[in-house]
Amino acid sequence: MSRKTHVTTTVNGDAAEFLTDPHATLLDALRDDLRLTGAKEGCGSGDCGACSVMVDGRLVCACLMLAVEAEGKRIETIEGMAQEGELHPLQTQFLRHAALQCGFCTPGILVAAKALLEANPNPTEVEARFWLAGNLCRCTGYDKIIRAVMDAAADMRQERRAS
Ligand code: FES
Ligand code: FES
Repeated sequence: MSRKTHVTTTVNGDAAEFLTDPHATLLDALRDDLRLTGAKEGCGSGDCGACSVMVDGRLVCACLMLAVEAEGKRIETIEGMAQEGELHPLQTQFLRHAALQCGFCTPGILVAAKALLEANPNPTEVEARFWLAGNLCRCTGYDKIIRAVMDAAADMRQERRAS
């Protein structure tokens, strides 16, 4: 029987704690212990991006990080993206462009795209495609996804100018 480790962290701005096996991944902890099932397990090996989350402001594959490494860290997941009932501009544009079909890849792509726009509010299309190259989608086709990201970037720049 393995000994569980107690982990204290912050998830989407709220304090969170869980007991985890030493070999469990952050993705396991999010989905199974904290019941945050937005991040998906596509490959489990860092190849598909479906499990993308932010850890202390850095984009990571939650399937490649041990849950015990989340101790004291600030985790952001897709569940924290909409704020006070308002969709994030990326979510709005994904809906407008129908940039998803089965939706399995969508949480990871949205988290990764948000990280892009925080690092670079005015990316070129090539930069957006390069940034999202680690997020695989097997049904929508990437053009709609990229158009949604570019339009969301424009919306966010306009919002910033207006505020
Ligand atoms: Fe983590 Fe595919 S499930 S990268
Ligand atoms: Fe199905 Fe991307 S919408 S994998």
